[in-house]
Amino acid sequence: MNKALRKAVIAGNWKMNKTPSEAKALLNEIAPLVKDADCEVVACVPYVDLTTAVEAVKGTNIKIGAENAHWEEKGAFTGEISTGMLKEVGVEYVVLGHSERRQYFGETDETVNKRTKAVLKAGLKPIVCVGELLWERECNITEEVIARQIKLDFYDVTAEDMKNVVIAYEPVWAIGTGKTATADQAEEVCAFIRATLAKLYSKEVADGVTIQYGGSMNDGNAAELLSKEDVDGGLIGGASLVAEKFAAIVSAASK
Ligand code: PGA
Repeated sequence: MNKALRKAVIAGNWKMNKTPSEAKALLNEIAPLVKDADCEVVACVPYVDLTTAVEAVKGTNIKIGAENAHWEEKGAFTGEISTGMLKEVGVEYVVLGHSERRQYFGETDETVNKRTKAVLKAGLKPIVCVGELLWERECNITEEVIARQIKLDFYDVTAEDMKNVVIAYEPVWAIGTGKTATADQAEEVCAFIRATLAKLYSKEVADGVTIQYGGSMNDGNAAELLSKEDVDGGLIGGASLVAEKFAAIVSAASK
């Protein structure tokens, strides 16, 4: 099975939650619970928590991620953070194109593409989020929306660079709503993403890309979602803020 070729990645997306001291406490709580994980464990935390978080996970199997990054190396971009800054503090992953950024902060596929290329160039691993709105699903254009996002977000990204890419399929209607996609719905779109990558690159490249599901994934539904052939991990919001719940998802991915 091709699934075995791919590394499962369970990443917490903390969003705008936890101060540095709270981040340290939560990571200290999570670390012993996930120490035997047979998957990649990542915590993507707010910028001001990064230094504390990197320090807190030293000697553990937890990797730290940021929640965005700018495409320029430096300059007059008030409020933005560069990939060089993230690298220097020890960040390994960067969430890009999250639907909250697309919805509230004017993120477009063009800017996601620029950020993706900058993150890869810096040797960081992007977790690129794609997903349809509820009305797009109701209008039966989920595949068109997803194909467009994949084509634009990865425009000019080489096959070699795709080895360091994680894609998160996050149906917007399932984020923070408690409405999870069914395992079959998640599999359908994750498989479609892989088929789209196979057309754009090759089957070999597509088979190597880790594709996560995100959107109300929790300790109760993770095992079923993760059992699907094309669902290689999860991007977890709410449940990543509770150590036991996050650890249970990690252990579901480790089986
Ligand atoms: P949720 O968030 O798990 O709280 O639905 C997922 C995400 O936004 O990545």
